[in-house]
Amino acid sequence: MIRLGNVSKKFPTGNSALSDVTFSIDKGEFVFVVGPSGSGKTTLFRLFIREYIPTEGTIHIGEWDIGNLSDKYIPLLRKKIGVVFQDLKLLRDRTILENVMLPLDVVGMDDEEAEKKAIDILDQVSILDHKDKFPVQLSGGELQRAAIARALVFSPEILIADEPTGNLDATTSWEIVKLLHDINKTGTTVIMATHNTDIINSLAKRVLVLDKGKLVADEKKTPKEHKKD
Ligand SMILES: Nc1ncnc2c1ncn2[C@@H]1O[C@H](COP(=O)(O)OP(=O)(O)O)[C@@H](O)[C@H]1O
Ligand SMILES: [Mg+2]
Repeated sequence: MIRLGNVSKKFPTGNSALSDVTFSIDKGEFVFVVGPSGSGKTTLFRLFIREYIPTEGTIHIGEWDIGNLSDKYIPLLRKKIGVVFQDLKLLRDRTILENVMLPLDVVGMDDEEAEKKAIDILDQVSILDHKDKFPVQLSGGELQRAAIARALVFSPEILIADEPTGNLDATTSWEIVKLLHDINKTGTTVIMATHNTDIINSLAKRVLVLDKGKLVADEKKTPKEHKKD
């Protein structure tokens, strides 16, 4: 459902973020994207949602040629692909419920319906108890869940999480990965950028490895034996 053919992205500054990247991701897959800081992970995600246009190559999401997509389809594209950005982008002066309702309000859904939908999703990600709190009152893991909830409001076919465990302790990180895994089990394609080698090595998932903008490996991990001690 996602196909990249020889994609490169250069910025006007001369920075080259991706070069000649080719891969496909099938519907329903769970894929890790790994690579050091600056290797092009976030750029890749911004290309998917047409925040950036590739300098070279083609990106297809389903039938759509993203680089040449007519502007009128961009809102639809961004409903198909839910993104949890590294900085979460939760509004500090809105409650968690209001934050999750916001994308629904923007598309004109009536308040009652939007609230019902937001409540369902907050329940699904297990933070319904915190719905009336403000972001500053939540822990890192809870904030991550709130941002995931907001990314799910349009029931996207693809969910992208950009380093969702970057600021979390090991236990909380695993809980977030478990949540993403559960979302994947419902049929949503999940793509997660991470540096967390424990998580990557423990799960038998596909791993795309970026280094300086190049795809240097595309492999399926075999889970390590858990030590019996
Ligand atoms: N808007 C931009 N303008 C110029 N350079 C950028 C822009 N976005 C990203 N880059 C550069 O592209 C490279 C890849 O960045 P990024 O995709 O953010 O990597 P990662 O998410 O793996 O840390 C870096 O060298 C970064 O400085
Ligand atoms: Mg990044």
